[in-house]
Amino acid sequence: MTTSSPADAFLAEITDLFTRLGGLHYGEDVTQMEHALQAAHHAKLDDAPPALVAAALLHDIGHLMQKIGEDAADRGIDTRHEQIGAGYLARVFGPEVTEPIRLHVAAKRYRVAVDPAYGSRLSDASQQSLALQGGPMNADEIKIFLADPFAAAAQKLRGYDEAGKDLDAEVANFETYRALLRGLIDQAGKL
Ligand SMILES: [Fe+2]
Repeated sequence: MTTSSPADAFLAEITDLFTRLGGLHYGEDVTQMEHALQAAHHAKLDDAPPALVAAALLHDIGHLMQKIGEDAADRGIDTRHEQIGAGYLARVFGPEVTEPIRLHVAAKRYRVAVDPAYGSRLSDASQQSLALQGGPMNADEIKIFLADPFAAAAQKLRGYDEAGKDLDAEVANFETYRALLRGLIDQAGKL
């Protein structure tokens, strides 16, 4: 066996997380794995750049990390799943991947504030978590959110997230994204 590179080791760690814990449901009807693959699928359908496809695939990895105990959670920077996920992924990925993830809950809070009808279209689990996440943004929060260079990408990611909750979708498997993820890790040059 040849020794694997740090990038391969990181990819193996991520794949292991999804393989072991991707069957969990986290309040939605679809599993975490189905949700991740469907969100990435919608990003591809939308011709999103590779970084945003990766963000869609990995946006809820913080939920999986929370399941494996404090050790993994400690690698993040806070207890919120979007922060945990983005903090962990920032070890290898650039901001084009991690920032939309970090902002995907903010994007929901923004959208609910400016488009109340959107709130009623959210899944039950997403509506429930909204209150815990701070509810609709206030005017100051909206200003700060929109000033973020990744606000637009985060809103796109939010759309892929909402679309990725279909019980009957047929989508490509996790392994399909290996080369895309590897390319982004190499591009970020952090390892
Ligand atoms: Fe999600």
